[in-house]
Parts: sequence; C-alpha cells; structure tokens
Amino acid sequence: MSGLDAADAATLAMAAREAARTAYAPYSRFHVGAALLFADGAVVAAANVENASYGLSLCAEANAVAKAMGEGRRGGLLAVAIAGGRPDRAGSPAFGPDPVMPCGRCRQMLHEIAALGGTDPAVIGVAAGGLTQVALSALLPHAFGPANLV
Ligand code: THU
Repeated sequence: MSGLDAADAATLAMAAREAARTAYAPYSRFHVGAALLFADGAVVAAANVENASYGLSLCAEANAVAKAMGEGRRGGLLAVAIAGGRPDRAGSPAFGPDPVMPCGRCRQMLHEIAALGGTDPAVIGVAAGGLTQVALSALLPHAFGPANLV
C-alpha cells in the first residue's frame, strides 16, 4: 500500500464526513460516513442505517461497498475514509480523540471488493488530532477471500 498523500486523504475524509450527514442512527446517535476512492477517481460514499431491531443495523462501510458494487464496480479500490462521532447540529460527526476504524465485518466486505482488483487500499480514520492511515491488509491479515474459493 502506498497510501494517499495528505491532501488527497483530507479530501476523502471530508467526503466521509459529508456522507455522515445522511446517517439514520436514532438509536446509537453515532453518525458514520464512509467514502470509497476508486482508481478512476470516483468517490462512492454512504452512511450508517440503523433499525428498530438493533442488530439489523448497517454500517457506513457496508452500505458504501454495497452501493459501489450495485453500480457494477469490481475492484479498483484505492482508499476508504471513515468519519464517525456524535453529530453536530448539521448532522456531521464531531471528531473524537480516536479514529473510527472499520468493524470486523466491514473489513471483510472491503477486502472482497479490493481483492477483485488486487489492491490493498489505504484505510483512513479521522480523529480530532488528524488522520490515521493503515493498509487494509494490516487490519485484516491472512484474509479469506475470492481466491480461496477457486
Ligand atoms: N458503525 C459504522 O457505521 N461503522 C463502523 O466502522 C463502526 C460502527 C455504526 C454502526 C452503528 O449504527 C453505530 O455506528 C454505532 O455502533
């Protein structure tokens, strides 16, 4: 993973924060946005969507992956930024002291679309003190994926 330069990472992080304004999170009141950057320059972003049956809630990253794959994207994933926190009056998350990193299920979902294109995307978490970048392969080592099912 080469990662994004600071300016591109900040731009993607802002797209994630903007996406978080569409969060439907009346139960946790924790708004999360995820923005996926693809090799063709496209950004696909989504927010978390909760349910009165709490366990059915969907993470921002899962929704962004489903949205991108629903548009026909298969691979080409360069980076994903995640912004999460308690919403301000505009519904945007206030940045906490620690970056929000994808949950285990979302790491696996991100691995699927990344593996289809052979990339190891940068995962960018946003916190009050700045951005943290880490390779998806470091968050999900020895991942199970499409290559295992040949
Ligand atoms: N959530 C995400 O959308 N992404 C994450 O990476 C962590 C958690 C959501 C799920 C739930 O709607 C809320 O944040 C609190 O867990």
